[in-house]
Amino acid sequence: MNADILKKTAKQMIAQGKGLIAADESSGTCQKRFDAVGVPCTEENRRAYRDLIITAPGIEQYVSGVILHDETIRQTSFSGTPFAEVLPKRGILPGIKVDKGPVDLGLHPGEKVTEGLDGLRDRLAEYAKLGARFAKWRAVITIGPDIPSSACIRANAHAMARYAALCQESDIVPIVEPEGLIDGDHTIERSYEVTVAALAKTFKELAEQDVMPEGVILKASMVIAGKKAPKQSTPQEVAEMTVRALKESVPANIGGIVFLSGGQGDEQATENLNAMNKIGGTPWALSFSYSRAIQNPVLKIWSQDIKRNVARAQSALAFRSKMNSLAAQGTYASEMEKDHGY
Ligand code: 13P
Repeated sequence: MNADILKKTAKQMIAQGKGLIAADESSGTCQKRFDAVGVPCTEENRRAYRDLIITAPGIEQYVSGVILHDETIRQTSFSGTPFAEVLPKRGILPGIKVDKGPVDLGLHPGEKVTEGLDGLRDRLAEYAKLGARFAKWRAVITIGPDIPSSACIRANAHAMARYAALCQESDIVPIVEPEGLIDGDHTIERSYEVTVAALAKTFKELAEQDVMPEGVILKASMVIAGKKAPKQSTPQEVAEMTVRALKESVPANIGGIVFLSGGQGDEQATENLNAMNKIGGTPWALSFSYSRAIQNPVLKIWSQDIKRNVARAQSALAFRSKMNSLAAQGTYASEMEKDHGY
């Protein structure tokens, strides 16, 4: 493990006003997203869509890294250069999703544990050779009346800590992502409670596995009421409670924090991030690592004519990246949404 490389990469990932684009959807998720807009989910279409994202003009001003899927890191862009080489040429770090997805947790109906540790050391060595500088592992924490159980939180936290240790051994910065799902009708207070419990356990397990905090990025879910809750959360509530939860459970010396969008609306995810950065005073940079909240308009525009709408879709990607970059600095305002120009 080279501590300097890890610290440097983490700093680059969370550079002022920059965040990540998550473009690492599994084939199943990709199928769902493409089905929703009527584009056949073939390998060629996935490649064309990811080419659009990775080569979008201007995004390097706002984006420090792109999280790729195993399929994409092995593919070549239309220019003939592998995607994993196109990104660093633009000053963008290539990342890789390495977990194998969530499966049902034994004896715990309705709960999941993420798999993917078997053979991970060798896979990481290969990804490092292919150019990956950071990795992602997503754990799913479902919120319900009697869940998550401590068994679920612990199993996921332990797996993430073992993953993070293996990443650091390969000089790859681990993103740990314990995602409290927004699905359900839970209150924001309940989301707070679950978020704190999951984060505290995750960082306890990371410390037990001797993972170097400065070389870890947390991908957090925001503290927010469930999508079906009668009382929805305002940006101010989300910001205050998320910042409080993070201060309560995340060590001050980790590399930084990025958020997932988790099914929030595009502008809602931007507004909530902005509200957090307006509060400020956190020991970490707070930025974005969105998939849906950045890609929704992009996929929609592209799907209307996948041959001719590439440039328009790319300007939508650059625009949403810019809005989120401003939100990462607390300087976004919703009026700016009028100037999108696509
Ligand atoms: P969403 O922003 O769509 O939640 O996706 C982020 C992500 O990468 C989940 O792992």
